[in-house]
Formats: sequence, structure tokens, C-alpha cells
Amino acid sequence: MGPEQVGDWVLDELPRLNEAILQDDAPPGLLVTDLGEHVLPELPEMAQLTPAQAQRLVVHLGFAGASVARHYQEHTPDGTGHPEQAFAGLTVGAAQVPFRRYFAALAERTGTGHYERDSYASLVRWNVGTIRVLLRGELVADLPGVFDDRRIRTYTGTPGEERFFLLVKQGETIELAVNCFLLPLTLDNADLIGAGARHRVRQATVLLDALRRLFLDFAAMPSEQSMAAEMFMDVFRQFAAHWTTDDIPPSGALDPEALKRDFLLGIAEPGYEQQARRLFPALLDRERDEIADLMAAPSLPHRLLAQIECDETCLSGSDDGDLRRLVGRHPALVDWYRLLAMHARASGAHLMLSKKFLFKPQRERDRAGLGDRLLVSNRAGTTGMTETYLERITRARREHTLAPLRPVLIAGIPDATPGPELRSGKEGAMPVVLELTG
Ligand code: HEM
Repeated sequence: MGPEQVGDWVLDELPRLNEAILQDDAPPGLLVTDLGEHVLPELPEMAQLTPAQAQRLVVHLGFAGASVARHYQEHTPDGTGHPEQAFAGLTVGAAQVPFRRYFAALAERTGTGHYERDSYASLVRWNVGTIRVLLRGELVADLPGVFDDRRIRTYTGTPGEERFFLLVKQGETIELAVNCFLLPLTLDNADLIGAGARHRVRQATVLLDALRRLFLDFAAMPSEQSMAAEMFMDVFRQFAAHWTTDDIPPSGALDPEALKRDFLLGIAEPGYEQQARRLFPALLDRERDEIADLMAAPSLPHRLLAQIECDETCLSGSDDGDLRRLVGRHPALVDWYRLLAMHARASGAHLMLSKKFLFKPQRERDRAGLGDRLLVSNRAGTTGMTETYLERITRARREHTLAPLRPVLIAGIPDATPGPELRSGKEGAMPVVLELTG
């Protein structure tokens, strides 16, 4: 099977095999046998692959590897103690390269600095086709994938899985648009209070409001049109098992645009930077570089305060009258405040999603004495973020740099006009266009 036919196997055969194994209709070894006999033997040597082919193969073998890891660990006593054993005997090509070594070489061949196992980038960004965001007719973000087949690869072919991958990539594309508006403001000597900056900040706010509504709309839909919590917990998440004991499994926490936004806008959460750095191996080179640059620089709100010759102590030490006068002198503060407030509200909407699809149902299981999954715990995210931690970082975003302005802004300034309506193109159509109109 050549590198391109593996795509058909991942789209058609792998979900069938996974379903059969999960339903106990097939032995777990069947997947390894099928891969070993039909998929891996014919795969080419690295030198024959273009970087684009390597990217597609990283996606394909990522799904295959995650499935092998899961079934092995679910069916082997103490399998979670030595996950790498799942791949023992699984080799690629005539040279019989061990699966994980071939995967690591493939990751390198992509030229992107991809991780040695499946990742957020391979499962979400590369897997799902192009997403475009239009804001009042203007294209503000375009995020391609690496396939042009209008399909979304999944572990079991369940529509909820497809919708989840699509949701996350839609979210990332909106976030990319937000960051594109904000990044030029980090340039040396950028004016942060003039008309141009205020326009950028307002556009970014409108987009964050759209992100928030994307989250809310997904949660409000009946599960047949979104995703069932049980599917998320018992089917989907269990494929984020370890390939080696201390690797970093794929997670929304590896969404680079969200990390960039936190460092652009600032987040006063102790240890947040170290936590983000711990995830670096699972990011791409460009993402690591961009995030590290933003970490090293002052956040936009800090630059803004410096520009108006103020700082956090001056804000917290001022009375309401002083703050009102400050806002009167620098009306751009209202726009910046609204941006930071919307960033926090979007985070709150995401927290709600995590509670609805994971933490609450798991609490109910715990109350009913049903316990947890053995492989990927449903009491925390895959990189270990607990509900309390997600609550804490949402609170930190609410307690942003300009939060001391809250009393005078909430009382004295009308709400921003409601954001434009968020419309998604026809279901199944690619590229997916998210249109903000009105
Ligand atoms: C039903 C939908 C969703 C659920 C149930 C959910 C659940 C979670 C969970 C459990 C975590 C903790 C992860 C860990 O420990 O590694 C997390 C983190 C995260 N997710 Fe999601 N998520 C959803 C949708 C999304 C979407 C659409 C995006 C991207 C736009 C996203 C971006 C993030 C980010 C950036 C984090 C890191 C925590 C933070 O910055 O607040 N998630 N999510």
C-alpha cells in the first residue's frame, strides 16, 4: 500500500476495525495484524517522501498509532505501565523500521518540527480542511489543512468526533484572526491608543465574541447535532492514551493561537509560563518560536499603560474619580477593557464546555460509584488540567490588567453594540466559511 492508499485505509478500514474491537466483535490484535500485513510493509523510505506527503502520513499513522496504543493498553494487564510495548514487532517497509522510529523520522521529514506522536497539529489543523473566517465580507483568516478531499479523519467514524475536530479548528481559525489583528500592535513604537489601534482592538473583540458564541452554540445543540458526552469520554478521549510513559498526548491545551493570545493579553497566573513551556515538545517549531517571543515581551495591556504613563499600581491606587478622568483622557482604554473582558468571557464559555462534556458527567459517575476510565482519566484533561485549574485560569483572565477600571466602566459606559451574527456555511461543505455579518 503506497502512502496515498493509506489514506483510504484510515478513512474506511480503521474506523471499522476500531468499532469492532471496541464492541468486542474483533480481537484487539486484529488491528496490528491488518496494519502489519496490509498497510506498513509497502510504505516508502523517508527520502522518497515530499514534506507534504510526510505531513499526510503523520496524520494517517497518528490515527493508526493512537488506535494501537489504546487497544493494547485496554487489553493488557498493566499495559499503561509500559505503553511502548504496544508497538513491539510493528515495523514499516522492507527495511523493517520499528513503527515509532519510522513515525519520528516522518515527523522530522515534514520540516515542521512535529512531535514524535500524533498531536493537536496533526489531528486538528492538518486533518480538517481549510477554514476561512469572513468579517463583514473581509477575509480575516484562512487556515488550510493538508488534504483536499473534504473529509475529516476520525478514530471510529462517529459524526460527533468529526464535529469535535471541526469545532476545534473553527475555534483556532477565529483565534488566528484575533491574533492577526493584535500582532502588529506589538511592534516597537506601535501607537496603541490611536484610531488604527482602536479599530484593531474592536475587530479582535468582535471575533472573540464570535468564538464565545461558537462555544455556546455547540453546547446548546442537541447531542445528535453536536456530540454526546459519553462518546467524548469513553470513545474519543481514550484514543489520547500514551505512546510512551511520559509523552504529551494531544489536547486543546496545545492550541497555539490560544497560547499566543494569553501572552499577548497577559495572564497573571503563577506558573502559567512554565506550564506552557512543558507543552513545547508537542508544538511545531514555528509555534514554539512565536510563543517564546511573546512570552519574552511585555503584554499589550502593559505596553498600553506605559504609553499613557500609568501602570498597574497607578490603576489600583486611583479612586473612581481619577479613573474616570483617565478614561476621559484616553478613550481607547474602553476598547482595550472590552477586549480583555471578552477574552475572559470566551474562556468562561470554554470552561462551560469542559464541564458539560467532561467534568460534570464524571462527577455524576463518581457519585453513582461508577468510577473512572483506566486509560485516560475523565477527572482531568489529557495534559492533566483539572476543573479547578481551568477555573483558576479563567479567573486569572477575568482579573486582567485593566480590571481595576471595571467599576467606572460598567457604571458609566454603554455596552458595545451586539456583535455580528456568526453563520457557518452548509454542513459538509469545504472550505468551511465562518461568516460574521450584520
Ligand atoms: C466540547 C468542546 C470542548 C471540550 C469538552 C473541551 C475540554 C477541554 C479540557 C478538558 C481541557 C483540559 C485539557 C488538558 O488537560 O490538556 C481543555 C483545554 C483547552 N481547550 Fe478545550 N474543549 C473543548 C473545545 C475547545 C475548542 C473548540 C478549543 C479551541 C478553540 C479549545 C481550546 C482549549 C484550550 C486553549 C485549552 C487550554 C486551557 C485554556 O486555555 O483555557 N477547546 N479543553
